Amino acid sequence: MNRVIVKDVFKDPLQYVKKEIGVCGWIKTSRCSKKIGFIELNDGSQLKNLQVVLEDGVTVNFAEALKENVGAAISVTGELVETPDAAQPFELKAKSVEIEGHSSPEYPLQKKQHTLEFLRTIPYLRARSNTLGAVFRVRSVASFAIHKFFAENGFIYTHTPIITGSDCEGAGEMFQVTSLDLGALPFDAEGKPDITKDFFSGVARLTVSGQLEGECMAMAFGKIYTFGPTFRAENSNTTRHAAEFWMIEPEIAFADLADNMKLAESMLRYVVKYVLENCEQEILFFDEFLEKGLLKRLKLLVSSEVTVVTYTEAIDMLRKSSQVFEFPVEWGCDLQTEHERYLTEHLFKNPVFVTNYPKEIKSFYMRLNDDEETVAAMDLLVPGIGEIIGGSQREERLEVLQQRMVASGVKESDYSWYLDLRRFGGTKHAGFGLGFERLIMYLTGISNIRDVLLFPRTVGSVL
Ligand code: 4AD
Ligand code: MG
Repeated sequence: MNRVIVKDVFKDPLQYVKKEIGVCGWIKTSRCSKKIGFIELNDGSQLKNLQVVLEDGVTVNFAEALKENVGAAISVTGELVETPDAAQPFELKAKSVEIEGHSSPEYPLQKKQHTLEFLRTIPYLRARSNTLGAVFRVRSVASFAIHKFFAENGFIYTHTPIITGSDCEGAGEMFQVTSLDLGALPFDAEGKPDITKDFFSGVARLTVSGQLEGECMAMAFGKIYTFGPTFRAENSNTTRHAAEFWMIEPEIAFADLADNMKLAESMLRYVVKYVLENCEQEILFFDEFLEKGLLKRLKLLVSSEVTVVTYTEAIDMLRKSSQVFEFPVEWGCDLQTEHERYLTEHLFKNPVFVTNYPKEIKSFYMRLNDDEETVAAMDLLVPGIGEIIGGSQREERLEVLQQRMVASGVKESDYSWYLDLRRFGGTKHAGFGLGFERLIMYLTGISNIRDVLLFPRTVGSVL
């Protein structure tokens, strides 16, 4: 069979018209009168279906194909013909239809629009729905755009470990990895579980971030990025937190906070532009059904500069606003989602960088500013989500880093190689982490992180 992808047929129909082609996919809808039948076929390559026309006496397996239920897998060979007078520009006149996989009448995805809540109950099938199908195509295109951006800008793609001995964020929100039988733990003389008997002869965990290892790579290659899964055992049951999510973490040597923000901004603009150019159908679909004005919002990002405010200025603006917040605002407090969203949605009505946070509320590795009160941190806040990027210039001065570790209650012995990195040509450097799921939410208008991951891992739920 001369198999073609439906997307390619729509992209350049003239190449296929009056030729015999083959397509494979799943039945979205099917209807028939006595002698003629219609199947809307979707192969996952795009939102739009291909109309297949079956004719009794002409199409092999005419009756069998039209008896099939929605969701069945079929392959079709036939001739592509133009249909200038119909709603669709062309259709496939089927010579023969093969049933590749039956479906039953209980197939849960019917023609009507299903709610996202309902689709969450059938994760194994929901990639075949219009909405989730579009989300996962955007996910794929955005991943590619990220790799393309970094490759074009001289970055080395690095793979950092998933199992780790160190807690990058020092926040202790990690999943432990063990090969011990929890029902038959070995105990030491003090009656505590004997971790020396475990696989790694010590505590091992799933990484919350590849940053620390990424810094080693930046000290060898100058500009690097990671793009991989990260894990957090935060007990936050929100629409923006997943226990397993993907993060993009660039790290640049010989660079400061301003360089870091410039990089974040140009990366984001590049990815949004690339998705607008390559996922037109999907973005128009989301604009119509999920978030009116999505297209305008994304175009605005591509064409405008991101504003920068310091944490101190942001606190001032929040305090002066008439808004009543659940969490009170004062200098020194961590910005909550309600504060972040108020800043980006109401005060700036656009993405905004907030910089120079108090050292007490940020991680030990962030570079201490000259005021000795704040650190060279940056968070990028976007409408609808809040924080999408978190980053900083890193503390390259060994003694200052050691002091910050002590003040943050982080044990030096757990980070000995990280400290040694400062001893051997450690230079000024900076980096950030972009939450990939939050980016996809931003690109699609999807408001719950559970709908941009096929099998989301969240508190109390693993399927
Ligand atoms: O701000 P975070 O915690 O920063 C770091 O992990 C740094 N080590 C990054 C770096 O500088 N290399 O996380 C970075 C981003 C957040 O801005 C957010 O978009 C996303 O990761 N994120 C989550 N996304 C989904 N679910 C969660 N539980 C997330 N936690 C963080
Ligand atoms: Mg953060």
